[in-house]
Amino acid sequence: MCGIIGFTGGRNAVPVLIDGLKALEYRGYDSAGIAIAGEKITTVKSVGRISSLEKKLEAAPVVGCCGIGHTRWATHGCPTEGNCHPHMSADGKFAVVHNGIIENDKELRALIREAGIEPKSDTDSEVVAHLLSLDYDGDPVEALCRTVSRLKGSFALGVLCADRPDEIYAAKMRSPLLIGYGDGTCLSSDGTAMPRDINEITVLADGQTARLTKDGATVYFRGKQVGCERIKPTVSGRAASLSGYPHFMLKEMYEQPEAIARTISTECRGKRTGLKGTGLTLIGCGSSYNAALSCRPLLERATGRSVEVALAGEFLYSERVPAYGKQCVLLSQSGETADTIAAAEEAARRGYGTLAITNVHASTLTRTCDDYLCTRAGPEISVATTKGFTTQVAALGLLAGSEFASAVRELPGLAEKALQASEGLKNTAGYFDGGCVFFMGRGADYGAALEGALKLKEISYIPAIGIAAGELKHGSISLIEKGTPVIAICTDDRLIGKSLLSIATVKTRGGYVIGVTSSPEIAAACDEAIMLPPVHPMLSAAVSVIPLQRLAYEVALGLGRDIDKPRNLAKSVTVE
Ligand code: F6R
Repeated sequence: MCGIIGFTGGRNAVPVLIDGLKALEYRGYDSAGIAIAGEKITTVKSVGRISSLEKKLEAAPVVGCCGIGHTRWATHGCPTEGNCHPHMSADGKFAVVHNGIIENDKELRALIREAGIEPKSDTDSEVVAHLLSLDYDGDPVEALCRTVSRLKGSFALGVLCADRPDEIYAAKMRSPLLIGYGDGTCLSSDGTAMPRDINEITVLADGQTARLTKDGATVYFRGKQVGCERIKPTVSGRAASLSGYPHFMLKEMYEQPEAIARTISTECRGKRTGLKGTGLTLIGCGSSYNAALSCRPLLERATGRSVEVALAGEFLYSERVPAYGKQCVLLSQSGETADTIAAAEEAARRGYGTLAITNVHASTLTRTCDDYLCTRAGPEISVATTKGFTTQVAALGLLAGSEFASAVRELPGLAEKALQASEGLKNTAGYFDGGCVFFMGRGADYGAALEGALKLKEISYIPAIGIAAGELKHGSISLIEKGTPVIAICTDDRLIGKSLLSIATVKTRGGYVIGVTSSPEIAAACDEAIMLPPVHPMLSAAVSVIPLQRLAYEVALGLGRDIDKPRNLAKSVTVE
């Protein structure tokens, strides 16, 4: 999704902004632009990759020590140069980059039209630039305070004012924004986009505005100066490099044993972290939901109670049943997913105690929840999550308590073995002709099946269905015909009999079954199989998902897909 970078310092800001925009690329974007302060503000924008923006800058260089930049992932208005940020006020006084959604955009457009200004773009963001110039009487901080008080919705704003060409102004509401300090001062929606020399950051809180100079920042709340806590940054995305791998996804897959080991040994958690209360609900989106679902049997065993697992976007609109004394665990790799954050707020309103499991310590989710437990996956650049998923399963294993401690400790070694077994999937693209692929499993294997299908869909664009093995016969089996690929995941020896039946049902209809299993009996019943090491059946998704990730990767590679940046997808989905 959209990304913001800003820099003011004693050197040319343009390379800093371009490097920052490149570091933001992984979030998904369709256009990008920068604005540089000087005698007047200059903007350069381009649709498509950052490289086309760079070409424009090579053709007509711009230099200046203070600027802002943006990668846009279109919501309001198509990806065109006109809709690309930064947006300028009609008088040329202000340039604005914006992440989030201005919900009262229509009313505000009417207001600026009354003032004789006609918006040029289809975006909800442009209006902010015009409001700033209407609200300005010589002090940009005051103008920003007035303007943000008119905005409804979510926003992270970076602003330049032509009258103060060394300063950047910022405002935050329900969309992340960080200030970084090093050789100059930086603004970004994502710590991974900050330059390497940034050694301290301030995480802006909702309702805060800020003025950045080359020597630091001043933070305000409702127009009054407030303290601004500086902390050590936990991630540096600019440090993330391919290290010889062709794609971040492959690199991150191979980082899983280490990432799981870090998660279970170097604990980063709040003070009270643990399972408590009279009921438990797990919430997430996409892969985080799948990780939660795969651990339902584990947490039911650990708590001795039934455990609910909900998609964040569905939980929000479910009946508001009071839940005092109950606990809600919210999983999010990024800690910035809008649906999950809204679900955390809603859970608190219903009376749940809230616990975040996230990979980003300084994230909105950790601040929204009562308590947190951090996975230690390290920066994840590939849009399709891999180590994010497996470290979430490991973190849920930690939460499940001492009964599972030894099984949790085995996970890094087992993940290593699963990586080796997955090497057998190289050059497997040939299995798939674009028709639907099924992934089936029961219990923890069902969560892994959903995750396997999601991985294949998102990076290869092949239709895939993750299904509870017992459900196949209730309708979806009508899609099985000669050669239909079915991935059968079976890691629980107690389910071998049932799984053999499901496999036979598929094969009878001509389906081609690839087993992902630790059981020789299951493997023998399949057309081919990836052999997993034996793994605790309630934590098995951290291991069984690895060949599924590799399968998706190899298929996408064979089809020539843009593996790390699949079409239409964003790394961190910051709109509901
Ligand atoms: C799939 C994927 C997404 C995310 C989902 C939630 O590979 O990455 O499905 O899992 O958007 O993101 P987080 O975990 O950051 O809340």
